[in-house]
Amino acid sequence: MRRSVARALIRPLVLVATVASIPLVSAAPAVADSVVVGGFPIDVSQAPWTVALASRDRFGGMRAGQFCGAVAVGRSTVLTAAHCLSEDVLGAPPNRVPDLKVIAGRTDLLSPQGEEIAVRDVRVNPGYDVGTNSGDFAVLTLDGSLPQSAVVPMARAGDPAYGPGTEAMVSGWGDATGGGDYARRLRAARVRVLPDELCARAYPGGPDGTYQAGTMLCAGEAAGGPDGCQGDSGGPLVAAGRLIGLVSWGSGCGQPGLPGVYTRVSEVVRMLEPAVGGRAAGAPDGEA
Ligand code: ARG
Repeated sequence: MRRSVARALIRPLVLVATVASIPLVSAAPAVADSVVVGGFPIDVSQAPWTVALASRDRFGGMRAGQFCGAVAVGRSTVLTAAHCLSEDVLGAPPNRVPDLKVIAGRTDLLSPQGEEIAVRDVRVNPGYDVGTNSGDFAVLTLDGSLPQSAVVPMARAGDPAYGPGTEAMVSGWGDATGGGDYARRLRAARVRVLPDELCARAYPGGPDGTYQAGTMLCAGEAAGGPDGCQGDSGGPLVAAGRLIGLVSWGSGCGQPGLPGVYTRVSEVVRMLEPAVGGRAAGAPDGEA
């Protein structure tokens, strides 16, 4: 909130200054450069675990109902962000959104490529804290099965992929510029895992959240640039072929000194482990 206001105020000034001196064409890049730079289009086959969370009923058909990202961690198990399923986002509890589905194997949201699979069960992490944004994940069970080739393994605690400096890729259909330009085709950005201290310093506590190293992961580029953005939430951050993060929050997108904050996937593993040890799919109790 605070950030978008700041940006809305800053942008006209930037444009005015640029128009006065340099040809108009450079005005747009000058603005875009402060946000998701280094983002590029990809084909879904390059990150087949990236799925869209959608409801045409709630969000209309313009973007096939896409409103968040999600990631396949089992043939019928998908992770997303807890905040994606909040009443704030959905306008209703998830069990009142009968057409909640994932779209898999599709690059262009408006193409018929891939498949749409209904969500059968929604489990929002009961430990999700809206104040800090800690524990921002939910586990969805699908009505059908995805191909095994779409499944990405989760990195458990102690995996070196969580180490600062690790190169990772974030993917989604979210805002490609920070200016509300929601992508119709899947995009990705290369980022790296940043030291926790960087995010702890950037986000000591504020309206956007509070960085907590135990449950969150800090990623981006220290100088700003590549980042996830609105609409990417719940989507994957993958390093060395393993899922390390879910897009969760940040102040603005790609701003220097304000990295992206991801849900630390080792926390999800910790919570899923008893279920996986027993029976991963078809968990018995159907809540929500
Ligand atoms: N909360 C946003 C969403 O719902 C994701 C924001 C990610 N921001 C960032 N700078 N990495 O889509």
